[in-house]
Amino acid sequence: MGSPEFTLTSAEGAGKFPDSTSRSAALYARAAAVLPGGNSRHSVYFPPYPIYAHRGRGSRIWDVDGIERLDCVNNYSSLIHGHSHPAIVEAISRQAAELISVALPTESEVLLAELLIERLEAVERIRFCNSGTEAVMFALKAARAFTGRPLVAKIEGAYHGSGETASVSTMPDPARWGDREAPAAVPDSGSGPGVGHDVVVLSMNDVERGRRLIRANADRLAGVLIDPMVKNLAFMAATPEFVAMLREETERCGALLIFDEVYSLRLGFHGAHATLGVKPDVVALGKIIGGGLPIGAVGGRADLMDQLFDPRVGAKLAHAGTFNANPLTMAAGVAAMKHFDETAFDRLGMLGERLRTGLREALRISGRAGTVTGAASMIGLFMTDSKIHNYRDLVTALIADPGIKRRGDALFRQLLNRGVFMGSQGFFVLSTANTAAEIDRIIEAVADSLRFLPE
Ligand SMILES: Cc1ncc(COP(=O)(O)O)c(C=O)c1O
Repeated sequence: MGSPEFTLTSAEGAGKFPDSTSRSAALYARAAAVLPGGNSRHSVYFPPYPIYAHRGRGSRIWDVDGIERLDCVNNYSSLIHGHSHPAIVEAISRQAAELISVALPTESEVLLAELLIERLEAVERIRFCNSGTEAVMFALKAARAFTGRPLVAKIEGAYHGSGETASVSTMPDPARWGDREAPAAVPDSGSGPGVGHDVVVLSMNDVERGRRLIRANADRLAGVLIDPMVKNLAFMAATPEFVAMLREETERCGALLIFDEVYSLRLGFHGAHATLGVKPDVVALGKIIGGGLPIGAVGGRADLMDQLFDPRVGAKLAHAGTFNANPLTMAAGVAAMKHFDETAFDRLGMLGERLRTGLREALRISGRAGTVTGAASMIGLFMTDSKIHNYRDLVTALIADPGIKRRGDALFRQLLNRGVFMGSQGFFVLSTANTAAEIDRIIEAVADSLRFLPE
């Protein structure tokens, strides 16, 4: 869905954030009295108060004060067509009028499963759940149930949702992260007593150390979990060599290779795994496949999925969920994925490249430190020239130069006041609703903002 040309000029601005007289500020004050921290999702907060959304259309959102902005977050990637795409609205409305939820399967579940299996190379069977967190949780359970082994390996600093095992060492403190040769498994606070003992932590793209750690745990390793492009590590990409090593070593020791493509499905029309030329055993999915409604899915090899989940052959795993494959999400997902065809995928990739190129040029002209990362429709902008290869590099850079965060926060705020809502952690995620003119508008707004950043 195309959007009308963006008309806001930087001279006009887009409101003055923060504004203590705004409706958003008032709503936040009310919210903070009833919701700890004022909301139900930490990532939507930014100081001194988050802007409250009122409506969205295509690439734009309007806040409760009537201010229009380009939405470059797209609900953390899940809105592949932006807001209220007519086909998705139509599918949801039609489905809502017929059936909202029911304790029976519906045809739309079969349709979405068929569509995803046809498209994604490594997905031969699939089961739906309600979030990416759940999808990763089931993928890890699948690995343990299938192999009968206890350990899971994951990448230090990579976010995989809030399941206990998956959140081990997502943000370990340097005081606790241990030796580089064998990073410590640091459980999230609130985790059960065994959590952490069941995780082997690998450093991103460290092929030889990773190989050694996998071999050292070979007999007890159920699976290796990797997101091939980690958003919370400034869109750090797994190298083909690292992924090839993981495939080789998991095959060698009989563990499963699990791709978390909840976010990074955006990397390839046939899946991030197809782009990397690797066939994982299990893939966790979420976000865009639900057309903007809550979803998760776990897919993979037919033999293991059938063994694990098919009750007719004595399923090894119980899998229930009141809202699994609920008709509304399935209908929205089918509409969204049908419209996200190869042409749309390629066009979106070109817009992403246009933005990356423009941001690099804006940084070059400004003389500011900054690195542009990402691929396809995901773009990271991190305010340092330091070379970041893994989580420890990132934390070390942030500690050495507190200005990185200061400049990132200031850029976010500058852009808000220029009509651009970027991810406050330094990213842009595009939708098919974006136009080339909008991409140029974002570049212009960033170029302008760079002049006002602190050191
Ligand atoms: C890579 C990855 N895995 C899992 C999740 C969890 O998904 P959800 O927020 O739907 O639970 C996310 C969410 O951002 C993610 O980025």
